[in-house]
Amino acid sequence: EKGGYEHFMLKEMYEQPKAVSDTFSPRIKNGEIVIEELNMSEEDIKKIRKITIVACGSAYHTGVTAKYVFEGMARIPVEVDVASEFRYRNPILEEDTLVIVISQSGETADTLAALREAQKRGAKVLGIVNVVGSSIAREADSVMHTWAGPEIAVATTKAYSAQLIALYLLATKFAGVRGQITGDEQKEILDDIQRLPVQIERLLENKKNIQKFANRYLAADQVFFIGRGIDYGISMEGSLKLKEISYIHSEAYAAGELKHGTISLIEEGTLVVSVSTQKDLYKKMISNMEEVRTRGAFVMAVSVEGNLEVEKAADYVLYIPKTNKYLMNSLAIIPLQLFGYYIAVGKGADVDKPRNLAKSVTVE
Ligand code: M6R
Repeated sequence: EKGGYEHFMLKEMYEQPKAVSDTFSPRIKNGEIVIEELNMSEEDIKKIRKITIVACGSAYHTGVTAKYVFEGMARIPVEVDVASEFRYRNPILEEDTLVIVISQSGETADTLAALREAQKRGAKVLGIVNVVGSSIAREADSVMHTWAGPEIAVATTKAYSAQLIALYLLATKFAGVRGQITGDEQKEILDDIQRLPVQIERLLENKKNIQKFANRYLAADQVFFIGRGIDYGISMEGSLKLKEISYIHSEAYAAGELKHGTISLIEEGTLVVSVSTQKDLYKKMISNMEEVRTRGAFVMAVSVEGNLEVEKAADYVLYIPKTNKYLMNSLAIIPLQLFGYYIAVGKGADVDKPRNLAKSVTVE
């Protein structure tokens, strides 16, 4: 059932091009974004004054990226919260706030409770859910399914990638309807979304090199991931992938926060993974890389083809191909998934079923 792959996680990473394309294909018709299940008229979309995104774990990380996408592209203010916090913090949900809950399983206890809490306060809840017929899919006011297919490995990969696509489609749709992007800009974004599956496939082909690199860090006791903007969201997910399956302590930091404490943890040889996919932030990231490197860090950089500057500030560089700046997460996460995976494989860990974790967290 693993289809010849050593682990479900590897199989599911390889299913990402399909998960991504199955999630966008039914929703792009003649160059337009059609999300019937949204049940919202153009008037309704124009009326949204705020979006509140609630989820757990990796699904929360897609929400962090989505904040930058919705705010940057559609100019709608977004608040993102982990479900276990949201449900107990007496959240303020005003009229015209759209609540989005994101969940692969559709059964995560805290996310389901957050959905109910939002509904109790009169909000309409849109669920982005992978499992058809799950509790969240049944209880949400509208459901946009991610079509990633069944996911077995505890560490999510293809469902995460499909969630990003659903969020991009929504943000682009909202941006178009609200006049924040032109028809041509929308067309370009859709073209770029449609190119992602092939680009992801190409990135997966680099697995041997990443495995070789990962093998040098099997004994690491801590790893730091740094990024700014969307790259901070990617860093959070890269860090979770690594720690949940390899048991290496890792943290993601907004790169600008390093100076406020974290940099004191950098020692000779500490691995710092720097994600820099946002052109307007390249320079800032290069100085952060230099800062940790002068303190002895070994810097692995994930950046975009053509950003040659990064080579001066990093010890090892992994390039991703160019795409629209809002879509970079979909590509940058691939080498980071592979990195976490191969560290866990190298350490002989139980990759698909890491200790203490369940695939769906149905208790709080
Ligand atoms: O089923 P859900 O998407 O609601 O699950 C949320 C988290 O439990 C999940 O993403 C978890 O963080 C994964 N193990 C991450 O790989």
